[in-house]
Amino acid sequence: MDPRLRGDDGVFNCMNDVDEIGKSLMLQVESAENLDELEAARVIALGKNGVITNLLKSLGKLPVEERLAKAPKYQEWRAAINGTIEAQKAIFETTALDARLATERLDMTLPVGTGRTGGIHPVSQVMDELAEIFADLGFAVATGPEIEDDWHNFTALNIPETHPARAMHDTFYFSEDKTREGRRMLLRTHTSPVQIRTMMSQEPPIRVIAPGRVYRSDSDATHTPMFHQIEGLVIDRDIHMGHLKWTLETFLKAFFERDDIVIRMRPSYFPFTEPSAEVDIGYSREKGRRVIGGSEGWMEVLGSGMVHPRVIAACGLDPDEWQGFAFGTGVDRLAMLKYGMDDLRAFFDGDLRWLKHYGFRALDVPTLSGGVGA
Ligand code: PHE
Repeated sequence: MDPRLRGDDGVFNCMNDVDEIGKSLMLQVESAENLDELEAARVIALGKNGVITNLLKSLGKLPVEERLAKAPKYQEWRAAINGTIEAQKAIFETTALDARLATERLDMTLPVGTGRTGGIHPVSQVMDELAEIFADLGFAVATGPEIEDDWHNFTALNIPETHPARAMHDTFYFSEDKTREGRRMLLRTHTSPVQIRTMMSQEPPIRVIAPGRVYRSDSDATHTPMFHQIEGLVIDRDIHMGHLKWTLETFLKAFFERDDIVIRMRPSYFPFTEPSAEVDIGYSREKGRRVIGGSEGWMEVLGSGMVHPRVIAACGLDPDEWQGFAFGTGVDRLAMLKYGMDDLRAFFDGDLRWLKHYGFRALDVPTLSGGVGA
């Protein structure tokens, strides 16, 4: 550092030409070669204890005339040095950014590397497969919030407050003061509230699937507090159970990629469908293992039925004009049946070894022509 600039009073006294001091400080700023040197020069000139700062501070002790005479000069130098610092700083920053951009350049036209990191989770894969299958049947994808209110999750689905089905859902409720339009908030226990939201926001005819997360207070090898469902809903004129059966058969054949899929519809009960049917899929045994297809045994895979007239009416539609079917199934369970995992909990452990084993390559997008199962 230039010894004249050290800032003690002795120095100022023998260097009373402020312009000399200013020029010298400016020279340091201009000759800085990088951001660090620039910052060092700034501290010397304009820092808390900097030369110009101290000169400005010293003004207070001076008689008025002297102060008025000197102040503009000091302020001029402060502004000039500050301006140069800012300009230099901008240049250094742009240069630094350019250098970074040059070294971090990626050639996007290169083929994908062989070192595979990351992959598609089986749940995402199956959801993509289902979207692909149903898109081919003319279904759009609908969504709804995971934080729902009890009207959409229960009441509109013909499950009034006193209905035993409410208790059976192991619902996660928010505290009672959390309400929306006077309705109690909860984590949706199924994707069926998306039926309501879709019917209330779209004109029929409606053909949608609604995949998503659902929540129930339950945990063991086959239950996790969060899991995935997919809902299907068709609303149109003259819809009957035959349409439902054909749709489910077509979907399951495409999903399991086998023509020998056999389904069995058992009478059941859901408050929001009438009649209701649980759907079993047939399996056979190959070398002691259960394989989907045939009818040696049965596994339950779906809940379904004709949308209850009360549900249609709750959404503001005339049930005499509009009918439809709905179905719901567990996405995780479909993934297990197709890809052979046996513990549901492992789906959500985030264990990289499991993901590597059961995950899918990011670029293998399921298509009907290429086979939906990657
Ligand atoms: N929501 C039902 C469940 O979670 C499944 C279902 C959906 C049944 C649509 C019938 C129609 O179990």
